[in-house]
Amino acid sequence: MAPPVRQAPQVARDPGCGARQANRAAVRIMGVSDRSRIGQRRGEMEKRENKRGAHRAADPAAHSTEGKSMPTPSIEDYLERIYELVEEKGYARVSDIASSLDVQPSSVTRMIQRLDDQEFLIYEKYRGLVLTPKGHELGRRIKERHQLLEDFLRLLGVAEEDVQRDVEGIEHHLSPGTVQAIGHLVRFLQSRDDWREAFLAYRAAQTGGQAEG
Ligand code: CO
Repeated sequence: MAPPVRQAPQVARDPGCGARQANRAAVRIMGVSDRSRIGQRRGEMEKRENKRGAHRAADPAAHSTEGKSMPTPSIEDYLERIYELVEEKGYARVSDIASSLDVQPSSVTRMIQRLDDQEFLIYEKYRGLVLTPKGHELGRRIKERHQLLEDFLRLLGVAEEDVQRDVEGIEHHLSPGTVQAIGHLVRFLQSRDDWREAFLAYRAAQTGGQAEG
């Protein structure tokens, strides 16, 4: 049974905790128009989180990740990658998504099915997938947010080798208000060379000149 368009993701076929967290982030990034329903949904999801905590304590192996060191990619990671592939090549194949996210093709098809159920894309087995306008819009916003957070960490003088990994680590866990505040700070600092330079000089002094800038 296909869920209604704006309904919260269903628990039963949710494959992992990272994915569910990202689902909540997807709801957040989309959900500005109907605050009361979002509040209600958050309440429901918190209840589920609590249940999950109990489940996790009972069986930690059930939540092991697919790769050795990488966390399981979230639904937002998939949408972001699909969006990028479509932008670059005009299409996104299961094999390309699988190799770029370092997961099994079976994981990709499972996630694609979920994205299809939630009407972010239309998937036909032998014809590939097409992003819906809703999926395209969310993909674009996820990617914009990713770029904003990269800009933010670079402005802070974070070492380049940490930037990508840390953005991947935080991008699906910030509320829209926080992302907006970071956006304002980034634009402010980008327009104010004096502030930016004063900050980086201060930081260099704190770290004994090791901060990049
Ligand atoms: Co990203």
